[in-house]
Amino acid sequence: MRSIKDLDVSGKKVLVRVDFNVPMDEHQNITDDTRIRAVLSTLRYVLDNKGVLIIMSHMGRPKGSAVPELSLAPVAKRLGRLLQQDVRMAEDCIGPEVKKRVDGMKAGEILLLENLRFHPGEKANDDEFARELASLCDIYINNAFAVSHREHASVAAITKFAPRSAAGFLLIKELQYFHEAMDNPRRPLVAILGGAKVSGKLGAVKNMMNRVNKFIIGGAMANTFLKSQGIDIGKSKVEEDLIEEAGETMKQALKEGIKFYLPVDAVVAREIDPKAESKIVPIQEIPEDWMALDIGPASSRLFAEVLDDAKTIIWNGPMGIFEMDAFSRGTVSMVHSVANSYALTIVGGGDTDVAVHSAGQSDRFSYISTGGGAFLYLMEGKTLPGVAALDNL
Ligand code: 3PG
Repeated sequence: MRSIKDLDVSGKKVLVRVDFNVPMDEHQNITDDTRIRAVLSTLRYVLDNKGVLIIMSHMGRPKGSAVPELSLAPVAKRLGRLLQQDVRMAEDCIGPEVKKRVDGMKAGEILLLENLRFHPGEKANDDEFARELASLCDIYINNAFAVSHREHASVAAITKFAPRSAAGFLLIKELQYFHEAMDNPRRPLVAILGGAKVSGKLGAVKNMMNRVNKFIIGGAMANTFLKSQGIDIGKSKVEEDLIEEAGETMKQALKEGIKFYLPVDAVVAREIDPKAESKIVPIQEIPEDWMALDIGPASSRLFAEVLDDAKTIIWNGPMGIFEMDAFSRGTVSMVHSVANSYALTIVGGGDTDVAVHSAGQSDRFSYISTGGGAFLYLMEGKTLPGVAALDNL
């Protein structure tokens, strides 16, 4: 894949696709700017090499029309502060006005285009929309790893129309770390999977089957595996239609000598409510009308031991409903177990990143991916459409 470094950006209009889909509170204050900081090196590279910098991103899911609360204006401000430079905001991302503004820009100036998803053409991967975006630039750079699993105009179709295209530093770094962990890992390689749904993760378990040495499964997705083993888990959330497949997958893993660890105890409650009465029970003793909302302390100890000899750890998905204090301990304890290991540690998935950050352990991980869905896509062994669009040039 061509890198931004392979192109001469000097004096060129460089259109950089980033993922500025950052969390904001109800007053449109950015509550976490990790995704903005993550692309600064690529943006600075364009500026330092005297390129004209045009930046584009989506924000939220506005469904093809302008939603003022999903404007990227707050991001322009934050970016300006981080770059210590004026970042102007365009009123749209395509159209004659935007074109005129871009044409009037000088080297070293920065313009942030308005939310791409205000236009239906973005999600539809529409050629006409992509052509309009591409007409703004001499060089297109994809530096938006976290949205590269979407076949959208600004990451996929656009490379058909941009005069030159390449990958930015963040996209390259994300792919390098992932492949370092998966393709030629130092062993044992342990994959930790959690989160709500087994449906989104079974593909990842299957794809990683012939690569990992151990699986650790937590979160609500563990329930479906537990049920497949004939364990009665009360009212816990289960994906009934996947019980059989989960059981087969686990059997297959064990047959191939892969260790497959499920929780041995759980924090249970009668309802998903931070104030609900909760208790810790062995996994085979979940009362009929209670549900597992976090792994218990015995599972945390077991999982810590499993990680003891790990040389590579890849983690996606929390161990419980960690947003609620009563059900957060399993995830927090996992953060510490992974941080304390002597392994290359890679974390992906929005929720997991939040857990690592809020536990104050982010500096102790080898790499924290900016991608949620995109990271999972890689775990499933799929090629990201945004990467394919750069590869097929
Ligand atoms: C994300 O936050 O995972 C990316 O920005 C993609 O957003 P999407 O799921 O709305 O496509």
